[in-house]
Amino acid sequence: MKTLLITGGAGFIGSHVVRLFVNKYPGYRVVNLDKLTYAGNLANLKDVENLPHYSFVRGDIVDGDFVQKLFEEHRFEGVIHLAAESHVDRSISNPTEFVFTNVIGTVNLLNAARHIWKEHPEGKLFYHVSTDEVYGSLGEEGFFTEETRYDPHSPYSASKASSDHFVRAYHDTFGLPVVLSNCSNNYGAYQFPEKLLPLFIHNIRNNKPLPVYGKGENIRDWLWVEDHARAIDVIFHRGTPGETYNIGGHNEWKNIDLIRLMCRIMDRKLGRGEGTSEKLITYVKDRAGHDLRYAIDSSKLQRELGWTPSLQFEEGLEKTIDWYLNNEEWLAHVTSGDYLKYYEEQYVKR
Ligand code: NAD
Ligand code: TYD
Repeated sequence: MKTLLITGGAGFIGSHVVRLFVNKYPGYRVVNLDKLTYAGNLANLKDVENLPHYSFVRGDIVDGDFVQKLFEEHRFEGVIHLAAESHVDRSISNPTEFVFTNVIGTVNLLNAARHIWKEHPEGKLFYHVSTDEVYGSLGEEGFFTEETRYDPHSPYSASKASSDHFVRAYHDTFGLPVVLSNCSNNYGAYQFPEKLLPLFIHNIRNNKPLPVYGKGENIRDWLWVEDHARAIDVIFHRGTPGETYNIGGHNEWKNIDLIRLMCRIMDRKLGRGEGTSEKLITYVKDRAGHDLRYAIDSSKLQRELGWTPSLQFEEGLEKTIDWYLNNEEWLAHVTSGDYLKYYEEQYVKR
C-alpha cells in the first residue's frame, strides 16, 4: 500500500484531486493535510470522508517541526502539494501571508521529503502544483511553453514562482525526485466565491452588481477542474522526474465575453428576460498589475503523456452554473462563514 500526502485537499482543486485519488486508487492510503483557512472547506469532501484509506490532518505547512513529524510518522512515498494562498486580490492586500505559505510552506515540505527519502529516493515523488501566472502576461499572440521565462507581476505569482524555483533547486542540488505542472485558470464545483466564476454566478443569482475590473479586456484560458485533476493523476504516475508540464484548456476568453455568456445562460436558467442579468455589469477600477493575457501551450503533456481536456467549455460552463444553482446551501454556508463550523462538528466534537 502506497502512502500519499495531498496538501490543500480541502480547497477547490485539492478536493477534486483527493476525490479522484481515493476513488480510483483504493490501494493508496491518502492523507489530506490542510490548515483550513477561509478557502479550505471539509464539506467539499463529504462524499469520501468516511473511506477507510482516507484521513484528514489539520495543520499548517508553515510550521516546519510539525511537517517534519508528520512525514516521520507516515513515511509518505509521494506528495502532491496544492496548499497555497491562491487569490491575486488577497495577495495585493496582504503579500506576506503568500510568502509564508507559498514559499516557506513549500520549503518545509521539501525539507521533510528530503530528510525521509535521502537513503531511498527511488520510487518517491514530490509533485508541486503551480500556475501559469508565473510566466507573466502575453500580448495578443503566442502561448506559454515550459521554456517561457518567468516574469511574475503579482505577489501571488511571485510567491508561486519562488516556490517553483525552490522545487527545481532541490532536484538539482539534492537529487530530490520532483515533478511540476503549471496550469491555467480552473473552473468548476467547490470554488470559493471570490474567484470570477463562482462570484459572478452568486451575484447574478442574487441580483447583485458584477464588478468587472478595468474594461473587461483581460484574457484567461479556462480549464475544467476535473480535467486538471486528471492531468495531475497522469503526471504523478507517468511524468518524468525533474520535468515540468504545462496544463491548459486551449480555451481563451476575454473576461467581458465570458461574463456576457454567463449572463445569457443564467437568464435562460432563471427564466429571466434576455438582457436582464447583463444590466448588473459594473465596470470598476482595474486590478493593480493586472496581467493582460494568459494562454497555455499544453502540447508536451498531450504528446508525451496523452492527456487532453475531456470537456468542451460550453458544456463545462453549463454544468458549473447548474452545480452552483443546485448547491445553494453550500454557497450560503461559504458566504456566511458557517462552513468553518463543519470541522468542529465533524472532527473535534466527535
Ligand atoms: P484554494 O485557495 O481553493 O485552496 C487552497 C487550500 O490550501 C485551502 O484548502 C487552504 O485551507 C489550504 N492552505 C492554505 N494555506 C495553508 C497552510 N499554510 N497550510 C496548510 N494548508 C493551507 O486554491 P486552489 O484554487 O484549489 O489552488 C490549489 C493549488 O493550485 C494552488 O497551489 C494554486 O496556486 C494552484 N493553481 C490554481 C489554479 C486556479 O485556477 N485556481 C490554477 C493553477 C494552479
Ligand atoms: P480570478 O478568478 O481572480 O483569477 P486570476 O486573477 O487568477 O486569473 O480572475 C479572473 C479574471 O477576472 C481576471 O482577469 C480578473 C477578473 N475579475 C474581475 O474582473 N472581477 C472580479 O470581481 C474578479 C474576482 C476577477
